[in-house]
Amino acid sequence: MSIDADRLWRRIEALSKLTDPDRPWTRRSFRPRFLEGREWLAAEFRTAGLATGIDAGGNLVGRLAGADPSLKPIILGSHSDTVPSGGRYDGILGVLAGLEVAQSFIERGDRLRHSLEIYDFLAEEPSEFGLSCIGSRALAGALTGAQLAMTRPDGMTLREGIAYVGGRPDELGSVRRGPDSVAAYVEVHIEQGRVLENEGVAIGVVTDIVGIRRERITITGRADHAGATPMPLRADALVGAAKLIEAAYQRASARSRDAQPLVATVGRIEVSPNAANAVPGEAVLILEARSGDEAAVKLFGETLVRDLTPELAKLRLHVASEPISSVSPTACAPAVRAAIAQAAASLGLSSREMPSGAGHDGMFVAAAGPIGMIFVPCRDGRSHAPEEAIEPHQAADGARVLAETVRLLDATLG
Ligand code: GLV
Ligand code: MN
Ligand code: MN
Repeated sequence: MSIDADRLWRRIEALSKLTDPDRPWTRRSFRPRFLEGREWLAAEFRTAGLATGIDAGGNLVGRLAGADPSLKPIILGSHSDTVPSGGRYDGILGVLAGLEVAQSFIERGDRLRHSLEIYDFLAEEPSEFGLSCIGSRALAGALTGAQLAMTRPDGMTLREGIAYVGGRPDELGSVRRGPDSVAAYVEVHIEQGRVLENEGVAIGVVTDIVGIRRERITITGRADHAGATPMPLRADALVGAAKLIEAAYQRASARSRDAQPLVATVGRIEVSPNAANAVPGEAVLILEARSGDEAAVKLFGETLVRDLTPELAKLRLHVASEPISSVSPTACAPAVRAAIAQAAASLGLSSREMPSGAGHDGMFVAAAGPIGMIFVPCRDGRSHAPEEAIEPHQAADGARVLAETVRLLDATLG
């Protein structure tokens, strides 16, 4: 099964270059640049011969009908949004590899039994609403009313955001896929780590995706004059935040050699009044914990806040936390993993099994059917940074393995 590697790379280059010019490689969801990328993608989907549209959840979907309409679809895809200033290949590789595979089947006149559906899932990365994996949550029927009411800093609600990208938030029931309604979901993605590159292995066969929990922690002190307030009288919220961040770092580091390591990050912080000459009165942090150990992920933030509360109280600070999202670790299905490994071997490519420390839409699609992920190496393991890079042959390897995996699954799955 051949694919057009040059066309795939041309598309990767073209879409990645639709970036905010002052901060490459940025295409934030729910922003005009994202819509620009979407328009370009939809045109490519149509040119390839896919029946293309935006579903009620705001996902861009291209469909290729299979020979047997009684069979459940095979879904391929990923996401075209990015984190700020990073993610040149994170996401688009999976969407464009899916498109390339579908187009190659069409051009060869090779009719699959199953329908193929290529998804550009809406907002896989944490959006300005504070939520990630929005389109795949919609597919799983997991978007709650409370989540639809989440707002971004300019006051737009997520409900309005879904309509802004062409979705229909009042019809979300129409995109929901029940259990066992998808034959298989397969996503190609860059590894975002160093394992494949260090070992000189071409393909990663993902075994499972870590659990991820995010919570918003608000530390409240008192804003005061930075010159006139004596040190013993201050209630400096940012000092409390610093203690909490340090404690999270130390606790997660202590687990780095565990069989199921845990990582913890405070990647976002808002301070007010945020002025050089004011004692910070409030700090709002987003704490994220990830691990394959579900209980550890669930308890990390709660335990941290509970343990630090007395120390922060001594600093005249109040600390409160509320969960934003929590997703359990997700296993990739043995049958899909086996197909990916067999596909790589048949193409003469080395492969190894590995877990994913990054989150992916598959965490939600798994509610509707078996999932699998194909990793390709990326330079120095860098990702979510402007330096993220892959070579054309690595993109092509991922797409070739995807095509062969689809062929195998199409032949074997009911
Ligand atoms: C997505 O890239 C994530 O792992 O947060
Ligand atoms: Mn990402
Ligand atoms: Mn991604």
